[in-house]
Amino acid sequence: MDAYEKIISLAKRRGFLYPSYEIYGGEAGFYDYGPLGILMKNNIENKWREFYLLKEKFFEISTPVITPYDVLKASGHVDEFIDEIATCKKCGASFKVEELKEGKCPICGGDVEKGKLNLMFETYIGAKKKEQAFLRPETAQGIFVDFPLLYEFFRKKMPFGVIQVGKGFRNEVSPRQGIIRLREFSMAEAEIFFEPDNKKHENFDMVKNEEMLLVTENDEEFKISIGKAVEKGIIGNEALAYYMAITKNFLTSVGIDEEKIRFRQHKKDELAHYANECWDAEIYSERFGWVECVGIADRAAHDLEAHMKATGVDMRAFKKYDEPIKVKKKIIKAKMDVLGKTFKQKAKKIREELEKIEVGDEVEKIKVTVDGEEIELGREFFTIEEVEEMETGKKFIPHVIEPSYGIDRIFYFILEHNYKETEKEGENYVLLTLPPEIAPVKAGVFPLVNKDGLPEIAREIEEELRKNGIMAIYDDRGSIGRRYARMDEIGTPFCITVDYQTKEDETVTIRYRDTTEQIRVDKKKVAEWIKERIG
Ligand code: GLY
Repeated sequence: MDAYEKIISLAKRRGFLYPSYEIYGGEAGFYDYGPLGILMKNNIENKWREFYLLKEKFFEISTPVITPYDVLKASGHVDEFIDEIATCKKCGASFKVEELKEGKCPICGGDVEKGKLNLMFETYIGAKKKEQAFLRPETAQGIFVDFPLLYEFFRKKMPFGVIQVGKGFRNEVSPRQGIIRLREFSMAEAEIFFEPDNKKHENFDMVKNEEMLLVTENDEEFKISIGKAVEKGIIGNEALAYYMAITKNFLTSVGIDEEKIRFRQHKKDELAHYANECWDAEIYSERFGWVECVGIADRAAHDLEAHMKATGVDMRAFKKYDEPIKVKKKIIKAKMDVLGKTFKQKAKKIREELEKIEVGDEVEKIKVTVDGEEIELGREFFTIEEVEEMETGKKFIPHVIEPSYGIDRIFYFILEHNYKETEKEGENYVLLTLPPEIAPVKAGVFPLVNKDGLPEIAREIEEELRKNGIMAIYDDRGSIGRRYARMDEIGTPFCITVDYQTKEDETVTIRYRDTTEQIRVDKKKVAEWIKERIG
């Protein structure tokens, strides 16, 4: 068994991950989180919120999974979110074109037919008059379409960040990598809105000495400090670099091995349709090699511009100058007498539309739309005048930096990097060295023997821990050694044992998972003691 098989087997046996719909034969690309898995996943997501919600001072929103066609047409996903696929004419299996060996089906060697597949799951809104829609391929679009309201919420002060944690969906062609390539997956995304020429971060100095392993678009691999990488122009701007450093800190804080993290720059032909520059945080795994787990992209103005074009809603922000500046402008003045004669009662409305238009140069014709009718006006209807105005600021479409995390992959790699096997008394012994904050269960509580009042005291301690928000599990089955082993295997950092001394001096033993060292602690202080150690 390789590491992946061992972990997937442990994950299933101990309630971390179950293959979805298994009694119906299973469905590739879907996984269930079991009772311990969901506890751990929630811990990972809450740690992520600690970084982005609490430390970065962003706010979280929650938007629908079902997304109307128009939104994803505008964002480019309808036309661009596509994989080149090949389908075997003999056995009917489909593949990504890059998976093909010598142009033949990798399963049966048959001839293949090439085509394209949009990765979005289609659905419909409504019963009779069905409106086409998709399951969202990313949570980001829900944030972009709320931009005008969010801009108000943040009192029009930039930069600001909005996060969303939730499901994303991609109808992968042929997911054959278990939990690594899911069709329904959990994402944690931050969209940070910047003035285009000010993509900086006020805390950049705090991370600039962080050493990172980078692989550039030319496949050059080296370690460099994040500050130097910006100075040398390897990473396009400070904000992008800052969130790469934050990503590394987050990943190590949840238990990813620092030596197994690198940042790889997307090559030009690999960039998503919305990205100008993108660095993937890749994590190393025994079976899969380097795997993309986080994408940190500079999406520039792509999305807001697209939604503004599609809806006509102003998605711009306003920047006030320090001092108002004098500008020359060419404005349109309607000739009311001529308009009145030609357009009668419509003339007033035409003037209103006409005088909203700003022109850069002389123009001979202008089109306006009044009451749904497009009207073309020649120079007999207007004049162009140059005026001087004081301008207090300018409107601009904000740029977006986006760190986007694949939670399920991170979940798996935490298990892989913390899975330790040793031998104890001739038997295979598994230890999961999860950070206490991430471990699904924080404490096991055991009576040394099932008599003489020890179980009652242990139950009271379990209750007390739970009252304090600490996930604790009471266990009185089998030897103490077996109980420790069951807890070690699921990464429980502390085990509390109630013994005869507890009845004499009110202390219990607390055993550390990784060292097996034991100390005695006042039973009334156990909750506080654990709280201090689980973040
Ligand atoms: N929002 C980033 C992605 O879809 O991968």
